[in-house]
Amino acid sequence: RTVYVNGSFVAEEDARISIFDRGFLFADGIYEVTAVIDGRLVDNDLHLARLERSLREIGIPMPVAKERILEIQAELVRRNVLREGVVYLQVTRGVADRDFNYAESMEPCLVGFTQEKKLVDTAAGRDGVAVDVADDPRWARRDIKTVMLLGQVLAKKNAKNNGFHEVWFVEDGYVTEGASSTAFIVNDQGTIITRPNSHAVLPGCTRRALRKIAEDEGVKIEERTFTIEEAYTAKEAFLTSASSLVTPIIKIAERTIAEGTPGPITRRLQAIYLDLAR
Ligand code: PDD
Repeated sequence: RTVYVNGSFVAEEDARISIFDRGFLFADGIYEVTAVIDGRLVDNDLHLARLERSLREIGIPMPVAKERILEIQAELVRRNVLREGVVYLQVTRGVADRDFNYAESMEPCLVGFTQEKKLVDTAAGRDGVAVDVADDPRWARRDIKTVMLLGQVLAKKNAKNNGFHEVWFVEDGYVTEGASSTAFIVNDQGTIITRPNSHAVLPGCTRRALRKIAEDEGVKIEERTFTIEEAYTAKEAFLTSASSLVTPIIKIAERTIAEGTPGPITRRLQAIYLDLAR
């Protein structure tokens, strides 16, 4: 693979980052993941806007102009002949001797790479997935897409060991989101319910695109908190993310959802999302 590191495109084995990079020592940095379908970036303007926002929230300057980031992403896709998968970008505060405090003048580090991944016509997308349930282990600013992901890493590993594809986090009885995806349920009236954006969740780009599709389709979408009990008895459930697009859910913990097959509203929005992405 050809990867990008601070101004250069190099073979992955030649890429170098200092062990004093604050991303490595403090998880002091942020990232973005954009889907690539048929060689094209999906919802990328939303991802670049969120990248800028994450940086602003933690006081890291943009490493290069937004237009340049887009060029870097396109160049990574081109050089790696990527048809389907993701482009990953990471910005960290930069390199300095280890100290919790940092100088305002630090030079941020920007790295990027591609990953091949089947996104369209996957078994998960076709048949739906099971999601586990766990207490939300994360900090209070989940709206920032930080690389500080240990809570998610451990929760996803545990869920996988238990035979689940993803895990929904719960706080005070309410579902926040998936470890790496946004959570949705559909009620008896065919209304989609998803938690409003706040510091408690990452503002999903796929969620935002999906909301527009639902509105255009005349499917009601209600932004409010919902309990895990409400999810257990939902008519349908699904999750969204750049790396799984719209994925139906057929089981939450040990409860079967939608008679164990992807629900009709989920199916319809999933198909339209894919059509628009392609
Ligand atoms: N994760 N919530 C969390 C905690 C996430 O990590 C993600 C994405 C989402 C969905 O956001 P979007 O639709 O913008 O991808 C919600 C990415 C894919 C990842 O960590 O790999």
